[in-house]
Amino acid sequence: MGQSGSGKSTLLNLIGGLDQPTGGSVRIDGIELAGLPDDELTRVRREKIGFVFQFFNLLPTLSAYDNIALPLRLQRKAGPLVRERTLRHLGLVGLSGRADHLPDELSGGECQRVAIARALVMDPVVLLADEPTGNLDSKTGAEILALLQQINRQTGSTLVMVTHDAAAASSCDRILRLRDGHLEGEERQQRGEAGDAGEPSTGAGTLPRQIAPAGRRARGSQP
Ligand SMILES: Nc1ncnc2c1ncn2[C@@H]1O[C@H](COP(=O)(O)OP(=O)(O)O)[C@@H](O)[C@H]1O
Ligand SMILES: [Mg+2]
Repeated sequence: MGQSGSGKSTLLNLIGGLDQPTGGSVRIDGIELAGLPDDELTRVRREKIGFVFQFFNLLPTLSAYDNIALPLRLQRKAGPLVRERTLRHLGLVGLSGRADHLPDELSGGECQRVAIARALVMDPVVLLADEPTGNLDSKTGAEILALLQQINRQTGSTLVMVTHDAAAASSCDRILRLRDGHLEGEERQQRGEAGDAGEPSTGAGTLPRQIAPAGRRARGSQP
């Protein structure tokens, strides 16, 4: 969590291999991303990392189904597998009845659900979400946060979300505060729901701690 300009998107882009650190180390599922050749990095991104953005970034000419199927088709997965996984993920985000709709015909919350399904369709080890509720009204935003939490519990994949919104951050197990590109502090939250207390999701406990200081050291002298 941090104010606008504090370096949240930069940190997320480093974790997701969209940006290269000038120093330090970024490891996803045991693979060091810093210095990885472009084609290898692309493969790791496709197979291990899911991204969700504030403005959904759906392809406007593709239906909900085709947007979700796209990562599978780019990987040349077999037809029946594409169909099974796409339908399963449509269901996971509660949009089974909206498969044929274009993004224009969906509400903001529905678009974000499609984007979440697309991010998950390759079964990534980590889901990265950059202000996923930033373009939604508060009720729809709360629904999206609840969905992300539910998916986090169901799939066991790590969720790293960045936000400037304290209410959104409070839905997470662990909150790291960024300020001017520096990691300022950390809190752990008790979720207070049966079965969750005191048990952070797999991997979440190690990712940001390793990555944030690298960016800070490398760029600490900039404003
Ligand atoms: N660790 C850092 N040290 C110095 N500058 C940084 C660091 N992280 C980000 N920046 C710069 O700060 C600016 C805002 O960062 P950004 O990641 O877009 O912030 P946010 O997503 O929190 O609004 C960008 O120009 C980025 O290059
Ligand atoms: Mg940002």
